[in-house]
Amino acid sequence: MDIRVLRPSDIPHVQLANITNLPENYFCKYYLYHAMSWPQLSYVAVDVSRPTPPHSPPKIVGYVLAKMEEEPLDGVQHGHITSLSVMRTHRRLGLAEKLMRQSQLAMLETFSAHYVSLHVRVSNVAALRLYRDTLGFTNEKTEKAYYADGEDAFSMRMELSGLKDKDGGEGDGDEEMGGMEGERTLGVDEGEGVGSEGAEKERERKRRVKVGRGLGVGDLVERNEAGA
Ligand SMILES: CC(C)(COP(=O)(O)OP(=O)(O)OC[C@H]1O[C@@H](n2cnc3c(N)ncnc32)[C@H](O)[C@@H]1OP(=O)(O)O)[C@@H](O)C(=O)NCCC(=O)NCCS
Repeated sequence: MDIRVLRPSDIPHVQLANITNLPENYFCKYYLYHAMSWPQLSYVAVDVSRPTPPHSPPKIVGYVLAKMEEEPLDGVQHGHITSLSVMRTHRRLGLAEKLMRQSQLAMLETFSAHYVSLHVRVSNVAALRLYRDTLGFTNEKTEKAYYADGEDAFSMRMELSGLKDKDGGEGDGDEEMGGMEGERTLGVDEGEGVGSEGAEKERERKRRVKVGRGLGVGDLVERNEAGA
């Protein structure tokens, strides 16, 4: 199994997995918005166990779609998990856990996120076990009728400082991200680039363009997040 960063060409396959696994679906542009704005944060799990003909599409069996919160209400720089799912055929193999950990690490290393947040249906036992018991999320509050069908959501979060301790690394590029977005002074983790990844991230930063709700992306969510 290959866990790698989401590429724009993966989006139709990720969208298919999303539609197959979850009732909260998004327009193609919303995936692209994630991939272009925060290319380090979204990952896919690709089944490479069987040889495939040349030029055949990747067999994407899981994904995590993640972003940085653009206008955090609490003023604290943090990431957000927009969507996560794994195809039924590939569940209980630890893929969701790996996808989540990769994304969380990137939130910390690339954007110096202090915590990561998400919403989950109160009835979603599998996801709750994953978030709470495996990853260490805590429940902040219950949001009534968060979902389009009226179900409540738990609003959960997990501090990322623990990851830093475990990893022994620090974020890179805080200053540059703060400058690019022009609205947040981060002022923490003024660490150096992480080894050879530093140069790669430098290139990625230069490719990023400023996009945001002001440019109309708020309307790209098909059902759930817009209501929230
Ligand atoms: C929730 C979901 C993403 C988990 O994916 P996964 O790859 O099977 O999860 P993992 O293998 O990484 O599981 C890690 C841990 O989470 C918990 N967990 C995962 N699935 C579980 C289930 N069906 N029942 C109970 N606990 C479960 C377990 O603690 C598991 O560790 P273990 O296998 O060692 O016991 C997957 O079931 C899914 O895609 N569900 C439909 C979409 C969805 O609900 N997404 C989340 C929206 S918020």
